[in-house]
Amino acid sequence: MPDGLGLPAAAALLHDGSTAVGLLGETGVQPGEHVLVTAAAGGMGVLLVQLALAAGGQVIGAARGERKLAAVRQAGGQAVDYSEPGWTGRVLELTGGQGVDVVFDGAGGELGAASFGIVARGGRFSAHGMSDGGFARLDPAEAGRRGVTVTGIGEYEPAVFRRRAAAALAAAADGSGRSSGRSTRWPPRPPRTPPWSPGPPSPRPCCVLNRSPAPGVQDRSSVSAPMRAQIDERSAAGTDSRLTHMEFNDVIRRRRMIRAFTTQPLPEGLADRLLAAAARAPSAGFSQGFSFLVLEGAEQGAPFWRLIFAQLEQEDDAAIRPMVDAMSQAPLVIVPLASKDVYLDRYAEPDKGWTDRDEARWPVPYWYIDTGFASLLILLAAVDQGLGAVFFGPPEFADFRAEFGVPQEWTPIGAIAIGYPDPTASLGGSARSRNRKPLADLVHRGRW
Ligand SMILES: Cc1cc2nc3c(=O)[nH]c(=O)nc-3n(C[C@H](O)[C@H](O)[C@H](O)COP(=O)(O)O)c2cc1C
Repeated sequence: MPDGLGLPAAAALLHDGSTAVGLLGETGVQPGEHVLVTAAAGGMGVLLVQLALAAGGQVIGAARGERKLAAVRQAGGQAVDYSEPGWTGRVLELTGGQGVDVVFDGAGGELGAASFGIVARGGRFSAHGMSDGGFARLDPAEAGRRGVTVTGIGEYEPAVFRRRAAAALAAAADGSGRSSGRSTRWPPRPPRTPPWSPGPPSPRPCCVLNRSPAPGVQDRSSVSAPMRAQIDERSAAGTDSRLTHMEFNDVIRRRRMIRAFTTQPLPEGLADRLLAAAARAPSAGFSQGFSFLVLEGAEQGAPFWRLIFAQLEQEDDAAIRPMVDAMSQAPLVIVPLASKDVYLDRYAEPDKGWTDRDEARWPVPYWYIDTGFASLLILLAAVDQGLGAVFFGPPEFADFRAEFGVPQEWTPIGAIAIGYPDPTASLGGSARSRNRKPLADLVHRGRW
């Protein structure tokens, strides 16, 4: 038993804790995913809420009555009362209408079946309880149509049980041992601004990086060795077949900016696959005025991150240092660069005829647009390969060009850090404090 954990807490965790660790591992909650836990105020429910939050999920706990809802909130989740009519609509609202990526169903029965109805395409439904009168009855054909993976609690080998129980106890010890010895939060997790509440205002407009550090990032040192082992197991290269070669819609839906990575190296040739995707980007006049500086591994990445850190210091941005620390673990950085000259030259060719190379002819700078398209393809290809990526503001141009011998003609439009998401870190950045706008606010049909 790890130090700092009281016997009653350990005994309580032995069964529920190991099961919760197992369920989380099986569903593979990714940072930014919407997770619904039913019977969320029960023993298992509260553990799953906290574990899914620690994995970076946006967690909604459904329970009955104010006392139980308070317990869900106390655990860090957003609470929904499923004794109220229309509760699934309320959950959908909290996901911006997208549906939940993962359900941990501790309720079963009608409530479980209703939860299944709001799982997004390609999501996962994990059943572990039946407080609502039996396991939820689900239609396998419907699950197949929507690409929803349904799992339950299985029988585990004793060795698996021991490993999971050890992870559960170690996480509880990390979260509780420091002060009273009582388990108050499990697993350890720093305070978190829920994505649906407004965050603190930015002191200045953004330039290089968002101001707000990713919650969870500061706490990485306190993640115990067994928990780490579980994380590494989950993010092992290419072993999670669910995450490679997804359906197009799933790739789009899952793409979120990931700001904390494990140091696990990428498999051979993976960077080339991302770059091959970038090369498929559309470009004005097929100019292809983009190029990519690729920094693979810690050694190549070090001078790049030195520039970024120096810039943070200059801008007095110590507050986001933990977030950048977590980003800088990424084993791959791709800097997309744009060249205006390539476009001016291309459009001076006979089929275009703008021989004066006059910039005023350009309604918008297509060189940046096309390089942005290419960057998005990299972000999407990374998701398709089971990776996470973040696009962020470029390093200071002059220093960057000098460090990497980049010709003046080429302008970095940003940088993309890529790697395996650190599942102990929560989603950082603006998306924590701002909701995705509804389509109606973006779209003007027929006329403005
Ligand atoms: C042009 C551009 C610049 C961005 N710059 C940063 C940045 O400097 N730091 C950062 O953490 N995120 C940056 N982002 C990420 C946005 O904050 C993020 O895309 C947005 O909050 C929506 O979240 P999502 O991409 O996870 O859906 C940038 C995104 C774009 C498109």
